Amino acid sequence: MQPLEKINSKKNKARYEIVLHTLLNKFEIINTELSMEENRIFIHNTSGRIKNMDSIQTKLVKKGCEPGYEMAMERINDIVGVRAVCYYMDDLYRVADTLSRHTDMEILRIKNYMEHPKKSGYRSLHMIVKVMITFSGKQEWVKAEIQLRTFAMDYWAVLDHQLRYKKGSLDINAKDGMEIEKELLDYAGALETIDKKMMKIRDKIEKI
Ligand code: GTP
Ligand code: MG
Repeated sequence: MQPLEKINSKKNKARYEIVLHTLLNKFEIINTELSMEENRIFIHNTSGRIKNMDSIQTKLVKKGCEPGYEMAMERINDIVGVRAVCYYMDDLYRVADTLSRHTDMEILRIKNYMEHPKKSGYRSLHMIVKVMITFSGKQEWVKAEIQLRTFAMDYWAVLDHQLRYKKGSLDINAKDGMEIEKELLDYAGALETIDKKMMKIRDKIEKI
């Protein structure tokens, strides 16, 4: 079995960098294409990261897997993760649909947390994909995770993430944590309502 440290090899780091840039570039291309079609901007901002080795290790342990390189490649889908924040809920489907037509990419799985929000209230559209890159003269398919969110979904998730982090570090007592969780869950619902209303207002304005 290859050790997990192999993830940090120069070659692997370069491979993941290429995947990251390929996906971020796709967002730019899609934004240009959709902006031309609809006369408005679709993607407000994008970000991406390569998971560090400690997080990969923690995730493998959580999944009850042996901490080896092959296992990480097989079981961890988000070694490369990118995110696009869009304006409206239906933009997320439009971006996903446009991405699905790229022949150098295949969508392996869609997790629709808009239709089925998580217990926490988390909403987003996730896709596990494999993307083709040319690296050292050879074509390779590499898995990655794409997250598509509206502003509201992103804004909520940032705060929720902060709470999770605090809970993990035991900086917060259980009762306070639960109360904030409950409040966040309520606001997730409120933001969903606003997201839907904003789409309707957009349509009204566009019809004028
Ligand atoms: P894993 O990839 O093993 O975690 O599988 P999974 O099914 O849990 O993946 P999922 O698509 O649900 O979550 C992956 C990522 O979505 C996380 O790393 C976070 O970035 C984000 N995410 C998922 N759930 C939540 C949540 O409740 N709150 C926040 N803030 N982010 C979340
Ligand atoms: Mg998870």
